[in-house]
Amino acid sequence: MKKAVYPGSFDPATNGHIDIIRRSAKQVEHLVVAVLNNINKHSLLSVDERVDLLKELTSDLPNVTIKSFSGLLIDFVAIEKAEVIIRGFRAISDYEHEIQMAQMNHQLDPTIETLFLVTRNEYSFLSSSVVKEIAKFGGDVSGVVDPKTALILKRKYSESEGLK
Ligand code: PNS
Repeated sequence: MKKAVYPGSFDPATNGHIDIIRRSAKQVEHLVVAVLNNINKHSLLSVDERVDLLKELTSDLPNVTIKSFSGLLIDFVAIEKAEVIIRGFRAISDYEHEIQMAQMNHQLDPTIETLFLVTRNEYSFLSSSVVKEIAKFGGDVSGVVDPKTALILKRKYSESEGLK
């Protein structure tokens, strides 16, 4: 059995991400969920908020660890001594970006495989961007993220409204 890394922005983690974590945790010995700390990209949730939320949501999974990383994913995978990268695959729109990342990561380190888990039907439309867009305009996101995340999104967007 392998050690795997499931990387992402998780800004915020959706129910679709959590489903991929739960399903891949059953397939590997240890899963490290790697939250990208990208200083060049503005994220709604801080890296600590994203890590803490994921820790709470996966606290019942003993073989899952949540960490943050910056820089190249492949370097983080090497530090973790993992052999596999996990990615969720939703629809054909994911194809180009995912293939590019998998092939580039393979180019950088041919010993690392990228494995794709096909997203369950009910999450195939779901993305962090769509969740943020709905939350921004006061829509109900309780069916697609956990209650605490929904609350944090609501608070963040009402704070930014208050600043206008
Ligand atoms: O959730 P996302 O935003 O689709 O995740 C993208 C992520 C974090 C997996 C990707 O941007 C990444 O690996 N970034 C780290 C920098 C890197 O290694 N880039 C080269 C990949 S080809």
